[in-house]
Amino acid sequence: APELRTATGEALEGEEGTARGQQGRWLTTATGVKLRDTDHSLKAGPRGPTLLQDHHLREKITHFDHERIPERVVHARGAAAHGYFEGYGTAGEICLAGVFEEGRRTPTFVRFSTVLGSRGSADTVRDTRGFATKFYTDEGTWDLVGNNMPVFFIQDGIKFPDIIHAGKPHPDREIPQAQSAHDTFWDFVSLHTEAQHHTIWNMSDRGIPRSYRMMEGFGVHTFRVVNAEGATSLVKFHWKPKLGVHSLTWEEAQMLGGLDPDFHRRDLADAIEAGAFPEWELGVQVFPDTDDQTFHGIDLLDPTKLVPEEIAPVQPIGKMVLDRNPTNYFAETEQVAFHTGHLVPGIDVTDDPLLQARNFSYLDTQLSRLGGPNFNQLPINRPHAPVNDMLRDGMHQHAVHPGVAPYRPNSLDGGCPFSLENQGEDLSDEQKRAFVDAAASIEASRKVRANPASYDDHFSQARLFWLSLSPVEKEHVVRAYTFELGKCYEQAIKERQLVALASIDADLCEQVATGLGLPAPDPSVAVADVEGSPALSQLGGTWPVD
Ligand code: HEM
Repeated sequence: APELRTATGEALEGEEGTARGQQGRWLTTATGVKLRDTDHSLKAGPRGPTLLQDHHLREKITHFDHERIPERVVHARGAAAHGYFEGYGTAGEICLAGVFEEGRRTPTFVRFSTVLGSRGSADTVRDTRGFATKFYTDEGTWDLVGNNMPVFFIQDGIKFPDIIHAGKPHPDREIPQAQSAHDTFWDFVSLHTEAQHHTIWNMSDRGIPRSYRMMEGFGVHTFRVVNAEGATSLVKFHWKPKLGVHSLTWEEAQMLGGLDPDFHRRDLADAIEAGAFPEWELGVQVFPDTDDQTFHGIDLLDPTKLVPEEIAPVQPIGKMVLDRNPTNYFAETEQVAFHTGHLVPGIDVTDDPLLQARNFSYLDTQLSRLGGPNFNQLPINRPHAPVNDMLRDGMHQHAVHPGVAPYRPNSLDGGCPFSLENQGEDLSDEQKRAFVDAAASIEASRKVRANPASYDDHFSQARLFWLSLSPVEKEHVVRAYTFELGKCYEQAIKERQLVALASIDADLCEQVATGLGLPAPDPSVAVADVEGSPALSQLGGTWPVD
């Protein structure tokens, strides 16, 4: 049984220590005063009225009134588990992070999620799934905040609020409650054709996973890793499930949505409770850190593009096992705070404009979701490495910081026990194990709001994906597009999406058009030519900057 703790964190000893909550000999107030009665309010006589003096009633009701915190603005519905990661020692050549050392075990916490539904929505809807992992390493916390699809809808994070506004339920009727079948989503992706690649993954069986235990995970962005000599490489992270990748059929997903909307969280918790611990291998695709940051012509900073495994195989660097269910959903699954900026020495970001925006967004949203700047002190977020920061005070501060001089250098609290001289090439071994931003080159002579021309191709990888599918997988994709677009009210949106499909593959477009009872568009027509569409240059193509 989980250890019982008081509200201030001390383990209760003896009989109470192993009991479940509320089974100690005495119920107390929040301040530890023993109570004789929590079932009757204090009244003027047995028939009342209730007295304002009843501080226990007021404390109990007030606390209840504030039990809910805002749900996540995206990925609100999720389920999580504890586990460990074990390095294979194979990443040493490219990355100095201790977490990858051979045989080293690092505790992890993983939260799987849908993206668009609210906290109470169903598990089996067609949607992307989040796959966020917190590694509590000896060198600080590293978060790999990924999805079960290797690409994303947009190329620049400034458009994230827009795609989410389009994907969340309609502002007027609040339908649908989760992704699938609505006009604003299809309006957005048919106008922003950079979203077509991610969308075809959503329309494939990947959009309805059978189990969290049977999903791949992808870091999506290209990251920069640094080895002990200071040399850098570019990598993409991949989780490969030991059970293989499996999906529900659409009919199963639909039925489960009604019969068991908790299907995925139940499956994860039951499997772990039964000792069938889910397992993934972590692998990397490795690319040279060249100035142009492309590989075989693929721009590694464009998050709508993947690098086919045929040209860059995924090389295993460790494995993860999930072997313990959370004790308390709220304290752990709800309060966990992942952040792409939680990096450890040896792992750094690239200039992918989607990743750069994420690095701002997570801390910012958690400031309001978790009520102020001290949420890293919550048990689930506490680093397992020693913390020696100069962050002070703020709402919900739990630390009692000793000393008087939270600044450096200082002459009052022992001066500067550590050195800032970590520039240049003569780093001591200890300094190398501190986080140093990789000195990546940048090439710019002026500020612009623009995409590089390499971001203009929106269709060839969607076509590659379509062509990689087996006949039955293709049939599922056609049926998914037909079902989802069939639910749109606006005819013009269906027609515009058919034009986008024609740019992916004529056969795909033809089959969906037949399913919708619409004529397939003339293949020479582009989305930008459709009546009412703004020019592509205003929709994520290269903006004319001069
Ligand atoms: C959650 C923002 C793109 C994966 C979130 C949250 C925000 C956010 C605000 C809620 C966090 C919280 O309340 O704790 C953004 C922005 C993006 C972006 C601004 C683009 C600019 C992505 C991408 C991925 C991703 C590309 C996957 C590679 C996740 C996951 C969660 C999440 C897995 C759930 C974390 C959890 O389980 O607590 N994102 N996101 N996001 N995001 Fe993103």
